[in-house]
Amino acid sequence: MPKQTRVFRLDAKLPDGAAIGVAGRTILAGALVAFPTETVYGLGANAMDAAAVAKIFAAKGRPANDPLIAHIANFEQLPLVARDIPDLALELAQQFWPGPLTLVLKKSGGIPDNLTAGLDTVALRMPNHPVAQALLRAAARPIAAPSANKFSRPSPTRAQHVLDDLAGLVDVLLDAGPTSIGVESTILSLVDDPPRLLRPGGLSLEALRALCPALDYAPHYLGDDQVAPAPGAMLRHYSPRARLLLFSGADEAAVSAAMRAEIARCDNVGLLASDADALQFADLNIPIERLGANAEEAALRLFAAMRALDRRGLDTIVARAPEKQGLGLALWDRLLRAAAGSLIEVSADNIENYVPK
Ligand code: TXA
Ligand code: MG
Repeated sequence: MPKQTRVFRLDAKLPDGAAIGVAGRTILAGALVAFPTETVYGLGANAMDAAAVAKIFAAKGRPANDPLIAHIANFEQLPLVARDIPDLALELAQQFWPGPLTLVLKKSGGIPDNLTAGLDTVALRMPNHPVAQALLRAAARPIAAPSANKFSRPSPTRAQHVLDDLAGLVDVLLDAGPTSIGVESTILSLVDDPPRLLRPGGLSLEALRALCPALDYAPHYLGDDQVAPAPGAMLRHYSPRARLLLFSGADEAAVSAAMRAEIARCDNVGLLASDADALQFADLNIPIERLGANAEEAALRLFAAMRALDRRGLDTIVARAPEKQGLGLALWDRLLRAAAGSLIEVSADNIENYVPK
């Protein structure tokens, strides 16, 4: 393990060649490099080197049964990672790569078993962030990278988040400022028939369905005590340390009333709120992290906001469940996981439960 993390500040559009050179050689030497992608920062290692991949699991404290994503620079690298690639994968890749889409395909022989947690399938994506692209080209091989956070912590959207979790555990950190999407890639399994959405993310379900109308999405969330049928379905994920209460319901005013009532009976409580909600609840005088005016802004801010609320040492965070359209579906998924599955459904019929007695 490195004792110190070397941090290079880079221009996100035109990364400095010398820093990229150091990072590429670090990957080739079997060590770890944290780097920005358009979604979140990744913790990278040579995907073809089992010992290097093992360092990722150790640094994150990630269980060995949770497989990683392999990142590639271009289509030439595709056969290094996957085999028997269906036409639909190529069509989706032509359309959406480089970008926030991860495809699960059959795995190539050169990919070490620890990367895929022993599965014969592999998750694969081609990121479009210029720093990720430059690093992949400098290393000239696929790079395995999960999000660069400690296991079960919110994903990092800024270099400082990586340092907060992994300072001294990663050799090199390429800091190119905040990421441009803010939630992780959408994961689509093409080894299932029909294809299955495993994780909503930076590419919307609506965009995928245009090319893949049969696409199946049945969100499946598991508690810690259940056996996961699919990797990544665990509930305790993206969690702030505080308890998060997620309020949902078609009647916005009833949901607001329930949120107010809950806040009134909690000590040391904060709010994760859209700009409109931040105004609406401003009279409460509690800490509020603003998520902006729409789903795109909320995606950019969500994980940073969870970390910021955590730094205040709150016991409870209250949030309103977002609409499930577009990027909102990914936000809904991350919030539900952060709330460990406890969605509080509010309707005109049960609102009296929330009125303080
Ligand atoms: O945007 C992203 O996808 C970021 C950036 C760094 O690329 N990466 C990321 O990786 O979010 P990670 O490890 O935090 O999430 C990867 C997910 C995990 O939930 C894992 O279980 C799932 O991908 N996964 C990996 N291989 C899989 C496979 N063969 N089958 C099903 N799920 C898989
Ligand atoms: Mg992650």
